[in-house]
Amino acid sequence: PRVAVVFGGRSSEHAISCVTAAGVLAALDRDVYDVVPIGITTSGRWVLVDDDPALFQLADGKLPEVPAAGPSVALAQDVESKALQSVSGEALGGPVDVVLPLLHGPFGEDGTLQGLLELSDTRYVGSGVLASAAGMDKQVMKLLLAGQGLPVGPWTSFRARRWDTDRDAVVAEVEALGYPVFVKPARAGSSIGISRVTGRDGLEAAVAEAVAHDPKVVVEAALAGREIECGVLEDLDGGEPLTSLPGEIEVVGGHDFYDFEAKYLDSANVRLSCPADLPAEITAAVRRTAVRVFEAMGAEGLARVDLFVDPSRGEDGIVVNEINTMPGFTPFSMYPRMWAATGVDYPQLVDHLLQLALR
Ligand code: DAL
Ligand code: MG
Repeated sequence: PRVAVVFGGRSSEHAISCVTAAGVLAALDRDVYDVVPIGITTSGRWVLVDDDPALFQLADGKLPEVPAAGPSVALAQDVESKALQSVSGEALGGPVDVVLPLLHGPFGEDGTLQGLLELSDTRYVGSGVLASAAGMDKQVMKLLLAGQGLPVGPWTSFRARRWDTDRDAVVAEVEALGYPVFVKPARAGSSIGISRVTGRDGLEAAVAEAVAHDPKVVVEAALAGREIECGVLEDLDGGEPLTSLPGEIEVVGGHDFYDFEAKYLDSANVRLSCPADLPAEITAAVRRTAVRVFEAMGAEGLARVDLFVDPSRGEDGIVVNEINTMPGFTPFSMYPRMWAATGVDYPQLVDHLLQLALR
């Protein structure tokens, strides 16, 4: 099959998408797949790039970027001419059988690219338009999860305009959560634009930072408990979604929380344990909850569900933080590591995802 690997993109997670693509390009079995790597530049131009994973790796803490130099391409949006095209509309090679949208954040993980692919009836890996869009927006995601009985933490949400015109009321809503709080852009990822705020003094800067990424802001009460993640993968035979063994994230120094630096640039201060050392019944509850979240969101293909676990909360102590419909997929990311610990290695995982999309 001919696979278009699409990565980079206009979101603030451009570089992480490139690192994800480097891992996947290196892992794809070239005897099985004819690979067409397509980069989207930070300004949104689609270009054919060299099929060389080394170009997009994270090296010495330097974040990679899609070079604007390649030939411009487009995916046709109409069913009849479905294929990769030059910008002037000439077909480039045979039809694309499946697209692997390795994009994180807005304009890729949020249903926009998925919509384009639906228009041309092109198969693609991962969630469809609605689950992608809803999973990208932390406010909508919380409403969907809470509305279906899943445990989410205390939160509130507001728009920049309300912050400007009705600030005292918004501050009161935020303070009702109790400090510390996390102030987040509703639609972003990799902790970009997120601040941990411990008092009124920090709110102005935190909201300004979040609003720089999205006019809609979500504020969450900081949750006690261990930071646990669980991988979900759709079953090839249509059975209940598969779950990985959970992993645990511990920030051991240098960071207030698992922020961008800690995620990608400072592995010395972060411990990713996989499998997480949890009692068997909590592990089972985490895996069950991850499936419920996946299904409540209508996700497809793959997702990573992030949770907090604090047994002192009672019952199983689980609170759902979020779902990521295109989780970080670099070889050192939690999602593939959790699957490796569960017996599915990185190339098998990529192959499983493509097989799902090609069914
Ligand atoms: N948004 C990043 C890539 C993640 O969830 O892993
Ligand atoms: Mg997360």
